Amino acid sequence: MQLDLSLLLQQTGVPLFPEQASSMAKDVDYLYFFLTAVTLFFSVLIFSLVFFFAVRYRRRSETERPKPIHGVLSLEVFWSVIPLGLTMVMFFWGASLYIQMRRPPANATQLFVVGKQWMWKIQHPEGQREINELHVPVGRAVKLTMTSEDVIHSFYVPAFRVKMDVLPGRYTELWFTPIKVGEYHLFCAEYCGTKHSGMRGKVVVMEPADYETWLSGAPAGESLEQAGGRLFTQFNCQTCHEQGPTSRGPSLHEILGRTVRMKSGETITVDEAYLRESILQPNAKLVAGYEAVMPTYQGQLSEEQVLQLIAYIKSLTRPGGQPGKGSQK
Ligand code: CUA
Repeated sequence: MQLDLSLLLQQTGVPLFPEQASSMAKDVDYLYFFLTAVTLFFSVLIFSLVFFFAVRYRRRSETERPKPIHGVLSLEVFWSVIPLGLTMVMFFWGASLYIQMRRPPANATQLFVVGKQWMWKIQHPEGQREINELHVPVGRAVKLTMTSEDVIHSFYVPAFRVKMDVLPGRYTELWFTPIKVGEYHLFCAEYCGTKHSGMRGKVVVMEPADYETWLSGAPAGESLEQAGGRLFTQFNCQTCHEQGPTSRGPSLHEILGRTVRMKSGETITVDEAYLRESILQPNAKLVAGYEAVMPTYQGQLSEEQVLQLIAYIKSLTRPGGQPGKGSQK
């Protein structure tokens, strides 16, 4: 027998819960029901006891003196251990769900989201761009790498039970696997100015075949990589980042995911956030062995262009490409 309270509520027409449209939604709801049930149980218990005791042990006359009470150890242990157990269940249950939700599967399709007042801009790796709409195939894990052009926004899809802040100057991630074909609300869940309430859109979950049709039908133009490659040439990045005895910057070949030693002595693992920082504030974390000669590209590149450059750098695995010198010591 499977307990499915939210389905039951939906069938009774009580619109308390949005549809469970992602692989994670059920698990989130079970935890939520558990918390609600525990809270309800103790609220009822405590209120009834307060009422019962107030009546049962009321003062019956002016001269009445209550008998002194001594503690009962077994009772004390009883009402300490049970709440401890319950809160630990909540903690481990919640933490394990949280960890699951924070760890996108390795094979997830990566899409890019840029929030701005007051719209969501989405780029597919193949080059399709959407505004306030996100098309995804059913059954495939999708990872969103998100940033904001202005203020803090929050990407929220209730039917998927996922929500993540979208911050200026930083990348945040969110992932989900849609399990049901349909259209679902997308909201901004962080007050971001006058039209915050209008900053919404829809997630369209499609059958894989329909999705392929949609992909080929949507005007793609350049893929992210191609756009990034064009920017790379336009800004002459290769002048310094080509490998060779005269290169002034570290090679970018197969750089993503590599652990690199910094001038300061610390080592970091190169991720999207580090690449972004290095494009916009090149001297913030210098790779050991290199001088601070790179100019900043802050103000010259939009967040979308930075994402395109990163997609290009990610694709740099040319045959014969070797790990850049200085990238590992
Ligand atoms: Cu964007 Cu609220």
